[in-house]
Amino acid sequence: MKKDQHWSMPDLKEAQKRSKQQAAIEKSLFNIPPEVKNIGVGRKYYLRTYGCQANERDGETIAGILEQLSFEPVNTPEEADLILMNTCAIRKNAEDKVLGELGSLKRLRRKNPDLIYGLCGCMAQEEDVVNTIIEKYDHVDLVFGTHNIHRLPILLYQAMMAKERTIEVFSKEGEVIENLPVKRFGTHKAWVNIMYGCDKFCTYCIVPYTRGKERSRLPEDIMDEIHTLIAEGYKEVTLLGQNVNSYGKDLHIEGGFAYLLEEVAKTGIERIRFMTSHPWDFSDEMIDVIAKYDNIMPFIHLPVQSGNSEILKIMGRRYTAEEYMTLFNKLKAKVKNAAFSTDIIVGFPNETDEQFQDTLKLVDECQFDNAFTFIYSPRVGTPAAKMEDNIPMEVKEARLQELMKHTDHWSHIKNEAYKGKIVKVLVDGPSKKNPNVFSGHSETNKLINFKGENIQCGDIVDVLITETKSWSMDGELVKQ
Ligand code: 5AD
Ligand code: SF4
Repeated sequence: MKKDQHWSMPDLKEAQKRSKQQAAIEKSLFNIPPEVKNIGVGRKYYLRTYGCQANERDGETIAGILEQLSFEPVNTPEEADLILMNTCAIRKNAEDKVLGELGSLKRLRRKNPDLIYGLCGCMAQEEDVVNTIIEKYDHVDLVFGTHNIHRLPILLYQAMMAKERTIEVFSKEGEVIENLPVKRFGTHKAWVNIMYGCDKFCTYCIVPYTRGKERSRLPEDIMDEIHTLIAEGYKEVTLLGQNVNSYGKDLHIEGGFAYLLEEVAKTGIERIRFMTSHPWDFSDEMIDVIAKYDNIMPFIHLPVQSGNSEILKIMGRRYTAEEYMTLFNKLKAKVKNAAFSTDIIVGFPNETDEQFQDTLKLVDECQFDNAFTFIYSPRVGTPAAKMEDNIPMEVKEARLQELMKHTDHWSHIKNEAYKGKIVKVLVDGPSKKNPNVFSGHSETNKLINFKGENIQCGDIVDVLITETKSWSMDGELVKQ
């Protein structure tokens, strides 16, 4: 299919640029034109979100917009008049899955000729993906990116009513938009964006291109959102950013993330979590705040990526393995009974076996509660993708298996230490398998299944741990 001159296509080179200008904070940019207002009446949408919490939170915005347009949600694509794939670009296998699924869903149009297919999220920000969609997926009617979600009503109108194939992706991030609707998927736990984008440019990572430059929300807007959530009965907030440690730098907010975290803690909300922290700018002030407040959960996700300083250098991570260990040990000493998780990549270009062994050594030293382990995946447009990917796939896979042996071992050991202890669990609801068993998370983010009666979703209860596994624990309610 020929490209349409009205389309705005993604451009990774443009996306890489960083302007010095502060992003404007827009409080009334989102609006629904009158002719678009009812386009969802009698229509159903199926939204599928892949990837990280930032995407999950975008999914809540997209659902909020669609429901303001009177669309109704459904749980299967077969029932839908609009299928939207909210996608992740972090690794190639995530992308292949989405494209495969989009291909197989094409058959549904035979039954429903007015069915609209849309693709959004991080994959939409990539030139090669959008070109593939144009050339090989002609049933996809609508493509929009991470910077123009607020335009969804107009774009949908174009695709549905004017029956025009609509592709609109902005490569440059724009304003911080404050008046977007939201449909929260959780009833007692909520995601709260504190900033958007990333300026770290780790050499393997596509995120700084798909999510744009770092832009913080104003503290008062974040606090307003949190006060509203508390009034609505929410018990837990997770403050979200690609690197929350950078919060407020663009706005010159004194104290940065440490200041914000303390303000949130002072509201008295039961539980506060935050994701993700880059080891490079984890400040002492932040550590002190985490240690000081009981409602900041003692669970820290601190991606290390590699245990070898040379590899860390070519990954552009800005710290050595020794510096990581110093920070890790400081956190462990100051934040009592904290649990730690991490992200690790194996098979980065030129990684030798000795360098990989350093990763295993670091894992054994840190003894993480949990680790997310990945095989390096070259991402077009990133500096690492220009390096020769010279590690054979069998070697990468063998390294991943070996690494997982170590990380699983420590997960198991860490969990075993909970046996016989009483932990506080925020209840998510009855477990999927058994309605008499409830599941929830401990303060250290452990998944806990337990038997109990008269329990509501959102309660915080004491549970005695009776059995531990690698990924979860079993327990019994302690009667108050
Ligand atoms: N290949 C493999 N893993 C990656 N990650 C980010 N980019 C890549 C890539 N190109 C991993 C990092 C990051 C996590 C979210 O995903 O470990 O912390
Ligand atoms: Fe990607 Fe690095 Fe930014 Fe994390 S800090 S989103 S790994 S560039």
